[in-house]
Amino acid sequence: MKYPISVELTKQSRLAEVDFDNLIFGRVMSDHMFVADYIDGEWTDCRILPYGPMPMSPAIMGLHYGQAIFEGMKANKSTKTGEPILFRPELHVERLNRSAKRLAMPEIPAEIFLEGVHRLVDLDRDFIPQSEGSALYLRPHMFATDAYLGVRASDTYRFVIMSCPVGPYYPKPVKIKVAEKYVRAFPGGVGFAKAAGNYAATLAPALEAKEQGFDQILWLDGKEFKYLQECGTMNIFVVIDGKVITPPTTDAILAGITRDSLIHLLKDKGFEVEERNISIQEVIEAHQAGKLDEMFGSGTAAVISHISDFSYKGKNFELSPIQGRKVGPMAKKLIQDYKVDAVEDTFNWLLPVRTTNKELSK
Ligand code: COI
Repeated sequence: MKYPISVELTKQSRLAEVDFDNLIFGRVMSDHMFVADYIDGEWTDCRILPYGPMPMSPAIMGLHYGQAIFEGMKANKSTKTGEPILFRPELHVERLNRSAKRLAMPEIPAEIFLEGVHRLVDLDRDFIPQSEGSALYLRPHMFATDAYLGVRASDTYRFVIMSCPVGPYYPKPVKIKVAEKYVRAFPGGVGFAKAAGNYAATLAPALEAKEQGFDQILWLDGKEFKYLQECGTMNIFVVIDGKVITPPTTDAILAGITRDSLIHLLKDKGFEVEERNISIQEVIEAHQAGKLDEMFGSGTAAVISHISDFSYKGKNFELSPIQGRKVGPMAKKLIQDYKVDAVEDTFNWLLPVRTTNKELSK
């Protein structure tokens, strides 16, 4: 193997501390983490360690100049075999590497990323929750580690994968405010990347929106302030007169893997799905004409989250109650059933986790 992995097992599992009936997103990590370092132009020292703090200089460049990127993916247990499975993991490697390229960071070899995920999930398989809508959330991420304050791309990096059992990210339908003042991304920028800074830039506007009673912001394009981009941590879908519409992915929109999966699943079920620019005006006009059936967001963490209403320039637009909606609830079930292997794997998206650590972890 080109990248051997050393393993140090935890001496004290924290599994008993997990309240599987009351999972808070991102709060409790599982027992182990995977770490690899980029030094002298090469990825090296791949290792699995007990999850915990790592000593680090306060001068690391990831902290100062934002060379920090991440992925979010999920592992579930197959309802057919009871074994852990992954959902389209290779797309997460590709996306992390697109983010890396834009932020002048080194690409991570697929072998390291995927082997790390397999070994980690195998080892911490007992942390995979099994209630509906829950999963083991994996957070692969990379950051610059040169301790240096000059502005340039770092020479060294660390890649880490950690995981945590999670329930639904948004437990209830979300109320959204359409952006009027702030912009998330613009052409030529980094909006398509899962860069830490993209999320940091949304926090103050999100707080402002929260103070006004909203859960999330629906971002409009940064050029004309007209077209829908994304909603909080999700891609946005609008259903008008039975037709499902979502903005095309550009350099200002994250290429969501749930988004892509949903487009395939909905088309497979015979729905008309359009990937095209959609203006906030078109959404409002559809609402006024009684043709705006639904709006929902999609994401790995969020799965499918229904939008109960949206507000634009001080005016609130209510959507039909959740029971009256068809596409969103069905889409949610389609994607959830697919991820737990409860339906046929038509698109060949599921990958069983290899059981390399079984002997080790006994
Ligand atoms: C994900 O859906 O995995 C995300 O990255 C959203 C996260 C920021 C909560």
